Amino acid sequence: MPRYPTLFALCTRPFSRMIHLGLAFFLLGNLSLTAQAQTDEDTGRKAAEELRVLVTEGTNVIGDLQPAINSGKTAKDKVAPDALVEQFKTRYQKATGAAMDLKATGILGDTRRAYLQAFTNVVTRFQPNLIKGGQDAFVPAFFRAQSLNDFNKSMQGKLQAYATNREGELINGDWAVAKVMKGSPLAGEVTKLMATGALEPVVKRSGNTVMGYYPMKLAAGCVACHAQNGLKQKEGAFGGALVAQIPVK
Ligand code: HEC
Repeated sequence: MPRYPTLFALCTRPFSRMIHLGLAFFLLGNLSLTAQAQTDEDTGRKAAEELRVLVTEGTNVIGDLQPAINSGKTAKDKVAPDALVEQFKTRYQKATGAAMDLKATGILGDTRRAYLQAFTNVVTRFQPNLIKGGQDAFVPAFFRAQSLNDFNKSMQGKLQAYATNREGELINGDWAVAKVMKGSPLAGEVTKLMATGALEPVVKRSGNTVMGYYPMKLAAGCVACHAQNGLKQKEGAFGGALVAQIPVK
């Protein structure tokens, strides 16, 4: 059967080659997935900045509503999830100079999509508080804590974000560093930075983590409302920090 091996070869070799190629692509695919899971330092810094803008602008949407919420005078259509998402996107565009690109790839796109989802979830979940209102019915810090909780869950460790303040200046003890950043490699550093009360952001690599540390500055409205909760603070002073934590290679 002189022709048999040739025919056999024609039939099987390309097939086995296909299998090997498939296997090679499968392995390569896994390799690139591993590479993606570990962000490089430069991208990590960009992601920290993205997080800062998203959380600042998102929380400011709720900040803008404080007079209306506290006096129980919000209009139902103005606090509907769609309306608030629209305001958030407008604020984001104003802050960054570009429309929110939700199709972006990598950690920047993931951060954006996860935060927008968290924002939407929380303003939907707390519609009753927004509509009914009343003093402290839905304060910015509470909104931020809820949305970061949702956000952190969906980011699965790729980027974690925390909002906290110094011991002794907490209205709600649940937002103490030791609780909010429990198990974080940055908890010690953040505690030291907050103790200085400095208002400059600190973005740096610390071991295998990029840290974005963003102090919050107290405005008159923050101080006035916190005073009603028994806190003595000064306008223009340090009033808490937002922290982004990104594991990098
Ligand atoms: C209408 C009232 C009100 C306003 C306005 C307000 N806060 Fe607060 N803030 C609160 C309350 C109430 C809490 C506790 C929230 C909780 O229990 O989750 C809080 C909590 C916080 C926390 C978390 C740590 C803690 O003390 O529990 C930070 C940080 C914070 N506020 C910063 C600010 C800053 C900065 C501003 C202004 C830009 C501001 N807040 C405006 C009422 C307010």
